[in-house]
Amino acid sequence: WAAAAHPSRRVVLASPRSFCAGVERAIEIVEQALETYGPPVYVRRQIVHNTFVVADLERRGAIFVEELSEVPDGVPVVLSAHGVAPSVRLEAEARALAVVDATCPLVAKVHSEARRALRDGNSVVFIGHPNHDESEGLMGEDPDPRSPRIHLVESPEEVKALEVPDPDRVAYLMQTTLAEDEAEHVVKALRETFPGIGEPPSSDICYATTNRQRAIRDVAAGADVVLVVGSANSSNSLRLVEVAERAGAAAHLVDGADQVDPAWLAGAGTVGLTAGASAPPALVEEVVAALAALGPIRREEPAGTEETYRFTLPAMPALPTKKA
Ligand code: F3S
Repeated sequence: WAAAAHPSRRVVLASPRSFCAGVERAIEIVEQALETYGPPVYVRRQIVHNTFVVADLERRGAIFVEELSEVPDGVPVVLSAHGVAPSVRLEAEARALAVVDATCPLVAKVHSEARRALRDGNSVVFIGHPNHDESEGLMGEDPDPRSPRIHLVESPEEVKALEVPDPDRVAYLMQTTLAEDEAEHVVKALRETFPGIGEPPSSDICYATTNRQRAIRDVAAGADVVLVVGSANSSNSLRLVEVAERAGAAAHLVDGADQVDPAWLAGAGTVGLTAGASAPPALVEEVVAALAALGPIRREEPAGTEETYRFTLPAMPALPTKKA
């Protein structure tokens, strides 16, 4: 008679996961800037919200700063994927910095929607998370923050407290990385409060956010535990944790394989795995290897939405000529 085989653990990888087109483009822009100008290349804010990506680019000669005031004159500076307030561009122009803009085109789209809504005489309600680079950049489109025309809200409760000069002239926009289901509650509250509210021409939540959330929702529904690879300041990664939890799984955010706690996996027959749009695919493979090191696994990867988005790279601007 044969001994009963030790049951292997199912590891179900959500598809799509990991890098989106905007993140790939932003990383390629820094790489190309390093190649064109040579190190160091300054980057305002984390190019994408991932510890490993930032550390890797730092090793190759990128210097990450919070503000342009930390950038010396006459050097190239890359603006991060999350977009910036117009005042940042003006500051760069005034200092004749060679700006390479890595703003994701889908974030830039929300900025142009904000400018159009303001031009049309509306107040803008921006559904987003405070203290996030994308929200900060978008709020910077407000022409005069002393009498605000763009209002940041995060929850239905905050909608009730809104005060706008003309309730018939209001439009809403959203951060690209929100959770669809949560944003829907806020939109419902906005429609009730401002029945004629203007809507974005198409959803501001980007394709990558939507696809990753839908994929992990399906995987989480059949999983005991979900691991999301991503950094703690990555909005879309945090949303993946929440979506998995709402689908009924225990979910944990891990920056890399070394953060996987075996205690989470005790008794877990099925582990779901995904990664935020800013987390490199190699880190997912490292987590799979870490799971395999804990015992036999069966890897499954159900087919998901195919993504075909590709964004072109901007031209590298000439450096300002030094005055004699
Ligand atoms: Fe852009 Fe969405 Fe990625 S806004 S950077 S495609 S998560």
